[in-house]
Amino acid sequence: MIAYRSLRVALLGGGSVGSQVARLLIEHGPELAQRVGAELELVGIAVRDVDAKRDVELPRELYTTDAETLILGADVVVELIGGLEPARTLVLQALRSGADVVTANKALLATHGPELFEAAEQVGAQLSYEAAVAGAIPIIRPLRESLAGDRVKRILGIVNGTTNFILDRMDTSGADLDDALAVATELGYAEADPTADIGGYDAAQKAAILASLAFHTTVPIESVHREGITSVTAAQIESARKAGYVVKLLAICERLTDPDTGEEGVSARVYPALVDRRHPLAAVHGANNAVFVEAEAAGSLMFYGAGAGGVETASAVLGDLVAVARRHVVGGPGLAESTHASLPVLEIGKVITRYAVTIEVTDEPGVLATVARIFADHEVSVEQLEQSVSAAGTATLVIGTHHARESALAETVTALEASPVVSQIASVLRVEGA
Ligand code: NDP
Ligand code: HSE
Repeated sequence: MIAYRSLRVALLGGGSVGSQVARLLIEHGPELAQRVGAELELVGIAVRDVDAKRDVELPRELYTTDAETLILGADVVVELIGGLEPARTLVLQALRSGADVVTANKALLATHGPELFEAAEQVGAQLSYEAAVAGAIPIIRPLRESLAGDRVKRILGIVNGTTNFILDRMDTSGADLDDALAVATELGYAEADPTADIGGYDAAQKAAILASLAFHTTVPIESVHREGITSVTAAQIESARKAGYVVKLLAICERLTDPDTGEEGVSARVYPALVDRRHPLAAVHGANNAVFVEAEAAGSLMFYGAGAGGVETASAVLGDLVAVARRHVVGGPGLAESTHASLPVLEIGKVITRYAVTIEVTDEPGVLATVARIFADHEVSVEQLEQSVSAAGTATLVIGTHHARESALAETVTALEASPVVSQIASVLRVEGA
């Protein structure tokens, strides 16, 4: 039943996602109105160029370059411009005027989240962002609402479609990184400048958002340890495959104990890691995303699907839009962010993980003992060791470690590098998911 006045929806951005949100809002208007209990009136779309040619045809009079005026009087502002400015200023302006805001902007939330959430809380407005992590996949609401009574222990996320496509292509076709990236660009997954994706920046922003939500703690983007995939080689992927592993770029959010103080803390980090082929994340192919959540009571849960794409991401945006619009109809303040735990964010050196190290050594008596001594000196226990003879007089050692402190593992690799028996460190990858 529609018993409430029309709600004015201002759309900022009419690109890949914005144009699909506008189309679906118009095409499904009557159905959405039934679900909300009020009409959703699209009052305008702010863009840079009102005359630009667009894939989705929408009434010309909806477009404007005057985002500030469009916001005035809006009940809900949907920000789909992307980037930090003018998105930040416009979102703050919308919230301070009492409007609810829906955004898909991970860069904005990871960088200015606390400022925006505070602005929303001050006026009782809602700031919703389901589409900011893993596109169409519902993960923000499950963490915020469905798991609100549980304790999340760890999240392992494949949250960047471009890098998953590249690593999957390298794994399945033997392509090197440049060739796989060229295919990703041709298919439209990678941007002309793919730095945000292959450098791990996009995944780090998503890790900051997920960790903040999961651990009720503000996790600033600067505290997320980040390594991209630029140094992953075809040889690493090949030897991982032979050993029963696949290389994935993971966003890892973990609740852990500080090894120095014994106090509880959290870690958020992004790096390429070896994942056992039997782990559910190993089966995430192409540009798909998946978020694997381990919670104390619920156990393991996996959320899987399209992490990007205009129409897919529009689904998540519209879900938020319907939810905030319903709140307008029933009344009451928006849901504030929960940051009560305020756990310390631990530096990477305090994380407990496992390494797989591949080294080239001289093939002569005593070398194995020297290498084993280096691991023992740093209190890193070796779990597995495989040796194969490579060129004349040299051997390749693949060493898998038990869990150890990251700083000890890193120091072990530095000591190996300096050892006269080691001619080359061919690969160092962490092993995750076990
Ligand atoms: P696009 O680049 O396709 O669209 C951006 C839109 O914003 C364009 O319509 C552009 O106008 C408009 N715009 C840019 N600057 C301004 C400005 N200063 N004032 C007014 N309008 C402006 O981006 P996407 O649709 O791909 O992404 C939007 C958001 O969604 C981003 O935060 C992104 O990270 C996020 N997202 C995107 C996904 C995807 O698959 N595309 C997936 C998940 C999240 P004009 O058209 O005139 O150039
Ligand atoms: N560039 C991102 C990706 C888009 O490849 O996943 C979705 O955030």
